Amino acid sequence: MMKSPNSRNASITSKGQARGRGNPAPAISGAGALSPQEVTEDRALRPTRVEDFVGQEKLKENLGIFVEAARRRGDALDHVLLFGPPGLGKTTLAYILAAELGVAIRATSGPVMERPGDLAAVLTQMTDRDVLFIDEIHRLQPVVEEILYPAMEDYKLDIVIGHGAGSQTLKLTLPKFTLIGATTRTGLITAPLRSRFGVDAHLNYYQASEMVRIVTRSARLLGISIDAAGAEEIGRRARGTPRVANRLLRRVRDFAQVKADGRITQSVAENALLALEVDGMGLDPMDRSILYALIDKFHGGPVGLDTLSVAVSEEAGTLSDVYEPFLIQSGLMERTPRGRVATVMAYQYLGREAPQRAPELFGAAQ
Ligand SMILES: Nc1ncnc2c1ncn2[C@@H]1O[C@H](COP(=O)(O)OP(=O)(O)OP(=O)(O)O)[C@@H](O)[C@H]1O
Ligand SMILES: [Mg+2]
Repeated sequence: MMKSPNSRNASITSKGQARGRGNPAPAISGAGALSPQEVTEDRALRPTRVEDFVGQEKLKENLGIFVEAARRRGDALDHVLLFGPPGLGKTTLAYILAAELGVAIRATSGPVMERPGDLAAVLTQMTDRDVLFIDEIHRLQPVVEEILYPAMEDYKLDIVIGHGAGSQTLKLTLPKFTLIGATTRTGLITAPLRSRFGVDAHLNYYQASEMVRIVTRSARLLGISIDAAGAEEIGRRARGTPRVANRLLRRVRDFAQVKADGRITQSVAENALLALEVDGMGLDPMDRSILYALIDKFHGGPVGLDTLSVAVSEEAGTLSDVYEPFLIQSGLMERTPRGRVATVMAYQYLGREAPQRAPELFGAAQ
């Protein structure tokens, strides 16, 4: 994650007082890369059975029915498109689905497949009813995406081998497979691709009680001692996102080991999260920096994504996928056709007086 040039803005507490520190703590919202140890721990925490996958009840119930029906028919599950903000469990769910179906899963991702041959290589290695998981499916090359259409629909693959006059078209019949695609950006999925999925599965932010269960489960798996109030404190501030909860838990564990007796209580969690600059709503320095930019530089908006992205020195894609969904969900920001807008609640949150303006400027009437 890039460091914000407005680092003073970025290190302001929830009460709106400048903390006077030069460098904001690295944001822990989930966009940053994991260390090797964290990768190992992350794998250990990933639920592998549906019983361990907390929350998303409606979605689990529906998927459970589709899986059961496919199994009874001895058929492949229809293609599934999983979408939602980062860290909500899309990859986890893809693996669980394959396990529930009792089939093998092959995983790849949109940007990795550069040529049609790359997709062909994966597809031809699959057996009947297997799952192909394509992460970041919105980043598929158009030439790859085009050969995916007949593969999804008719289980056929046409690939051209060679160039010019000597080129040949190879027609292959594929096993009946299930494609599971995952994306954080449905807006970038082309209509023809989207229409070829039989199941659209939208993952939502998790409820507070579910977050507590996730923190408690992760603490147990990592051998961390934590009490109920400590788990609640971390869960509440983890922006409804399991990956963030797991990350905060590990950071708070560090504080507990160094500054306390190793046990995470509410006050240990509170102090650690204060030091990490995660506030009571779960907002981190980058979230606050976005709100300050919106309000101070653009008079509350509306402002375009690209302009906002320059103002906070964060890539537009990360802004719209990682930060904005949570700010919107928290009622602090709105997306309107004319641009991003700070809500009255955002002014209150930063301790500013909201200007008297036409309501539609706050996005209410759009
Ligand atoms: N429902 C859940 N219950 C318990 N833990 C979960 C759940 N969902 C996700 N997790 C935890 O959060 C971590 C992140 O989940 P996952 O990698 O599946 O997210 P993702 O949606 O694929 O994110 P991205 O968009 O960044 O690829 C997992 O390692 C897992 O430990
Ligand atoms: Mg993933």
